[in-house]
Amino acid sequence: MCGIVGYVGGRPALDIVVEGLARLEYRGYDSAGVAVLADGELVTAKRAGKLVNLRNALAEQPPPPGTLGMGHTRWATHGVPNDRNAHPHTDCTGSVAVIHNGIIENFAALRGELEEAGHKLGSDTDTEAVAHLLEDELKAGGDLAAAMRRVCGRLEGAFTLVAMYTGDPDLVVGARRNSPLVVGVGDGENFLASDVAAFIAHTRDAIELGQDQVVELRASGVRVTDFEGRPAEVKEYHVDWDVSAAEKGGYDYFMLKEIAEQPRAVADTLLGRIGTDGRLTLDEMRLSDRALREVDKIIVVACGTSYHAGLIAKYAIEHWAGLPCEVELASEFRYRDAILSPTTLVIAISQSGETMDALMAVRHAREQRAKILGICNVNGSTLPRECDGVLYTHAGPEIAVASTKAFLTQLVAVYLIALYIAQVRGTKWGDEVFAMVQLLERMPEKVDKVLETMEPVRELARSLSGEHCVLFLGRHVGFPVALEGALKLKELAYMHAEGFAAGELKHGPIALIEDGLPVVVVVPPRARDVLHDKIVSNIQEIRARGARTIVIAEEGDASVEPYADTLIRVPAVPTLLQPLVTTVPLQVFACELATAKGHDVDQPRNLAKSVTVE
Ligand code: F6R
Repeated sequence: MCGIVGYVGGRPALDIVVEGLARLEYRGYDSAGVAVLADGELVTAKRAGKLVNLRNALAEQPPPPGTLGMGHTRWATHGVPNDRNAHPHTDCTGSVAVIHNGIIENFAALRGELEEAGHKLGSDTDTEAVAHLLEDELKAGGDLAAAMRRVCGRLEGAFTLVAMYTGDPDLVVGARRNSPLVVGVGDGENFLASDVAAFIAHTRDAIELGQDQVVELRASGVRVTDFEGRPAEVKEYHVDWDVSAAEKGGYDYFMLKEIAEQPRAVADTLLGRIGTDGRLTLDEMRLSDRALREVDKIIVVACGTSYHAGLIAKYAIEHWAGLPCEVELASEFRYRDAILSPTTLVIAISQSGETMDALMAVRHAREQRAKILGICNVNGSTLPRECDGVLYTHAGPEIAVASTKAFLTQLVAVYLIALYIAQVRGTKWGDEVFAMVQLLERMPEKVDKVLETMEPVRELARSLSGEHCVLFLGRHVGFPVALEGALKLKELAYMHAEGFAAGELKHGPIALIEDGLPVVVVVPPRARDVLHDKIVSNIQEIRARGARTIVIAEEGDASVEPYADTLIRVPAVPTLLQPLVTTVPLQVFACELATAKGHDVDQPRNLAKSVTVE
């Protein structure tokens, strides 16, 4: 939430900052703003609404050129999204500018104190308090970095802060606690950003910033200290994707590109994890086989789409690894008395690795001495650092707010983990694990096949753009797929959409069925005849009550044909792997329907990618 960019070097800062903001706009698009330091003067510009409004304002009134700058795209927390509340915020003298991501929880007390001392605050934000606190600290003596350290010591909550000061025109200072900030290391220039996407066009060398650290960024180098001013150890890494991955590549929307990239993303996530002997090797997981043998319970924590991947993980873990598995919304986890012990394995799934609810769940699990394994897509993010082990998904950057390729790769990761635990614990024979791994290796080709046959789904979506409600039904792993289909439609098309376990329908939701109501049904493979036959009965029940049935079923399944108003075919795959193929038509459906309604599918209203507040 909120995108932050900082630059210092020899080139015009404004161009680099605005280009960085364009790549970070997915993190928030309520308002945008920039600050540039030129000839000892601090110039800011900010506008409510998307970045295009700021770009227009800058084109009308270009600020003087400067080589030190920063910018911000906002997802509003404190104060409505207008020009006044947009970042950067400045102090009373106009010599300090600050941008911020996160929430400063004690902002009301700080603002009160500042106003009493005579400061004039011009916005309703928590952020502005920091500009005025820096003003006081700078007056008291010391440089901007020292002032920032002292101010951070007074703040409660989560924050990434970046500041500039006319008194030190070569310096950008950043600080972080519980909120992302990475450094991009260039040649005679350096960058700061919430996400490497902002500077990937200029450098692929990055530095992870740890918790409670302050970074001083100059053209000549980077210095990192903790909040007490002690030098901190820095961890450099090389980003393994390039700028083309962060661009639309000819697609109208990132979401379309990311849907199309799924076969590659699935293949990349499998890469290097299967030995020549067919045994899984998840070395990077950093959890010893001995530790995994001791595990007697697994709890998966995640949010949103990642939570749906967690629901599917439960079926795979229980079936293959023979371990009890609970799945919990990360935002709820620490409010119940979950029974955890050192033999509990908590699996935290997060595409961004920055979701605050997931991080808080991980910290809670750590306090209870459980082992923690992360599944994450973003190298250098916070979650992997807080886990005992991590399995990275290799989806590449996911920029559209609605998760698509990250979800499919999370599924691959949970399958790999479940099979690996089965291998280590001996709950499946080696040849059984190998057979399943071979099937997994064929999944990119199956997903590709689904993508090739999506035109009728797009047509269907366009024909339903006038509807107000769509229901989704599934059983077993088809139930989380139904939840995911409904979530995609809600967030992109702003329609009422609900996913139900098909068996629950008769316990209440069937009352919703009325003439012509579109109901999407995910049909399990025929191999699971108990499941399959039950869902065929469910289709008949809703059709008898007037529903318009949209049925997703495997190739060759003739039994559903008489009851399907629309039939969407997917390749035949084993039941547990079926979400990899059945989710794709639902992504395409939601994307097309939302586009037909004229919505921007990359930036749905009220949302932001990477939810860094609780
Ligand atoms: C929905 C979506 C969100 C995220 C959720 C968790 O399309 O993208 O529901 O899945 O905010 O995000 P991560 O996985 O980054 O923790």
